[in-house]
Amino acid sequence: MTSTKTILRALAGETLPTPPIWMMRQAGRYLPEYRATRAQAGDFLSLCYNSDLAAEVTLQPIRRYDFDAAILFADILLLPQALGADLWFVTGEGPRLSTITDGAGLAALKPADAIHDHLAPIYETVRILSQELPEKTTLIGFAGAPWTVATYMIAGRGTPDQGPAHALKAEDKETFEGIIDLLTESTIHYLSMQIDAGAEVVKIFDSWAGSLEGEDFVNYAVVPAQRITAALKQKHPDVPVIAFPRGAGERYVGLHAAIGADCVALDDGVTAEWAAKNVQTGGCTQGNLKSSHMVTGGQDLVDEVNRIKAAFANGPHIFNLGHGITPDADPENVQLMIDTARQQLP
Ligand code: CP3
Repeated sequence: MTSTKTILRALAGETLPTPPIWMMRQAGRYLPEYRATRAQAGDFLSLCYNSDLAAEVTLQPIRRYDFDAAILFADILLLPQALGADLWFVTGEGPRLSTITDGAGLAALKPADAIHDHLAPIYETVRILSQELPEKTTLIGFAGAPWTVATYMIAGRGTPDQGPAHALKAEDKETFEGIIDLLTESTIHYLSMQIDAGAEVVKIFDSWAGSLEGEDFVNYAVVPAQRITAALKQKHPDVPVIAFPRGAGERYVGLHAAIGADCVALDDGVTAEWAAKNVQTGGCTQGNLKSSHMVTGGQDLVDEVNRIKAAFANGPHIFNLGHGITPDADPENVQLMIDTARQQLP
């Protein structure tokens, strides 16, 4: 039976008259209603672990814009916290974690399947959403990819070049690979539980994949994503997987097959025309409007949406940004993007 959900149809390989649409970070600080609920929760992590309020902020952009998908409101760093790392957010700066720098630090973490008590509120958010979302709206669950999560666990914070993670990989490969393995296994458990709770699609965010070079890209971006996808497909063969190795550049070619993913999400470092020719041939693509258009708007925004839509029109495509929307974006530009994306090309 054909699904009535357009995102699931695109993920199954169908070319649609206009692309279904959602937006990374669609529940976020550019929305006044998000800022109000976040203030009510107190801080970002309290919001993530309050299932009712996390479900509420997930629903806000659906009510306002009628996106075709909702993405669970949580964060990729909740998993290392569930494994035993300390995690806090510094306002205006970003996340901080206790660091893992050697074998003893790795050994002190919990086993991969010991995460579920800590993450129970997240599964509850998914259950609430699967009840509350409109019939046609697809619910997307997610996790960080092992490499990206490892860069934060090793450095204890975000880094411009992921230097500390690259250094541990060079100096203590055994510990580094142990971290990647633990994250791969725990991510399988985490995403599988999200699916059991009602997630209909899962997305793996590898925000820092672009800094892996040569064999490292294969070993630490492609292989872990492939292992996670294969394990999920074994348990949940009908649940599509979206892989987002941000910054992959020319290495986007062949990734659907290498990972076994139903969809590859593109950042704005590649052109839609190139990606249609070289990546969309492998399956559904998602992307890839520059987030800055949500700040600047105007005719440039309309032209860019139409260009991307036209480039991907002959294959399965989900419209999205190339990265998350930023807090300085204008909510009216989001509406303009959606209206333009949903108009049929002449
Ligand atoms: O897309 C969505 O709306 C779903 C929810 C989601 C969040 N973070 C909410 C969030 C998702 C999928 C993420 C993923 C995430 N988190 C990534 C990978 C994707 C990417 O953006 O590259 C990374 C690297 C993180 C880690 C993280 N979380 C950082 C570096 C920050 C701080 C940056 C900032 O803007 O302050 C966060 C915080 C965060 N995660 C916010 C949101 C809405 C902002 C928190 C706030 O309300 O203050």
